[in-house]
Amino acid sequence: MKPLTARAQIGVVGLGTIGSEELALWRRSGHPAVGFDTSRTRVQAQELLGQGGDDASGLTSRFSDLASCDALVLCLPNLDSQGELTLKAFDQFLDKIWTFEPAERLIVVASTVPVGFTREFANRLGEHGRLVAHVPERFDPGRSTSLGEIPRVAGATSKEALDLTVDLYSRVGVTITPVDPVEVAEASKLLENAFRLVNIAFINEFAELCRRMGITAADVIDAAATKPFAFMKHTPGVGAGGTCIPTVSKYLLEAASHNDLELPILRDAVDGNAHLVERVVAHLDQLLRANSVSRARVLVVGASYKPNYPDTRGSAALRFARELGARHKVTVYDPIVDTTRWPSDLALVREPPRPASYDAVVVAVRHRQVDLDALRQAGPIFIDLVRGSVEVDESIPTRK
Ligand SMILES: NC(=O)c1ccc[n+]([C@@H]2O[C@H](COP(=O)([O-])OP(=O)(O)OC[C@H]3O[C@@H](n4cnc5c(N)ncnc54)[C@H](O)[C@@H]3O)[C@@H](O)[C@H]2O)c1
Repeated sequence: MKPLTARAQIGVVGLGTIGSEELALWRRSGHPAVGFDTSRTRVQAQELLGQGGDDASGLTSRFSDLASCDALVLCLPNLDSQGELTLKAFDQFLDKIWTFEPAERLIVVASTVPVGFTREFANRLGEHGRLVAHVPERFDPGRSTSLGEIPRVAGATSKEALDLTVDLYSRVGVTITPVDPVEVAEASKLLENAFRLVNIAFINEFAELCRRMGITAADVIDAAATKPFAFMKHTPGVGAGGTCIPTVSKYLLEAASHNDLELPILRDAVDGNAHLVERVVAHLDQLLRANSVSRARVLVVGASYKPNYPDTRGSAALRFARELGARHKVTVYDPIVDTTRWPSDLALVREPPRPASYDAVVVAVRHRQVDLDALRQAGPIFIDLVRGSVEVDESIPTRK
């Protein structure tokens, strides 16, 4: 296949968090680009954002509109609606690509996939699978960095596919490192996510130890972060959430099991992260009991899965609020959270609380708009999970 020129047509398959950013990247660089999603709602959402070009013709829920594309970038999900890992969307893509005439077309898998998936997928693509690459996505929603500014890694099932991919992404300004074999690219993405999960799980464990020793985790972490090498600052909270960090490490655990190996550190991080919410609920219960409150009014601050970003998918903070809601009267304060999937049985406020209006306030996620001083006045018990601090102010009345 000839190198893909600046006029090459790019199809982006799946227009979620990642696909919409990929589409914007190719559009910004002047490539004619088509965004496809099976969900009409997603397509309409992109139309509203003006992502379809002048006449929105670059957005579609008709697969056949991708037929003329020179490259397809697959930004398909690896989770079902319950948050369980599945690669069913790739099966759906395979079913549809067979309706196309075989053509010289580069297929780039941008989704996070298990090691070995890209090669197997290329085999299943048959005559459509001669040029298949994996360029794992590293976008960090909420950070003010556009996807094109983040360096990427590329692997492919052949040298020709790798050269085409590196050339294509380099020409639109993406710093791209080729790796070989393609399994290195797959494993590198899983390593990045597992590394983050293990660190988050450990920093939460460490914050619990600090609390029991009567010191504040954030003070210790800030002190350690003055070391200019070999330390990377991580922040405690109510657990890693979202659709990537807590889930895809399971691909590595499965790979280990297929290779007769245990990864106890990673397994503990996955399990520890999943159980952190119960531990925080139990600690709060204990504090409330000590203050003679049984059914308390609790304000949970932050419900999205990470600071400064509205998405609640896989949010540990939201799970925490819901579990706490089984025992106490819980209100969530989150000025930016997306309410599209908000549970109808959970109260949400957008405005900061009045003084002494709760028995306890728990900061689970701290968006930059949040005023900690105002929150401190809202109840006698103030737990900041992000600092790892617990403050009890007896001058603020408890509601009994
Ligand atoms: N969200 C992130 O921060 C992030 C970061 C790095 C990597 N990733 C990885 O990128 C991939 C995509 O993640 P996302 O967050 O964009 O997912 P998402 O759930 O936000 O979006 C997926 C989109 O694909 C669409 N879709 C589902 N089946 C389809 C099909 N058969 N054909 C076309 N469209 C289909 C859905 O309607 C949805 O709009 C995942 O593998 C994820 O692990 C995500």
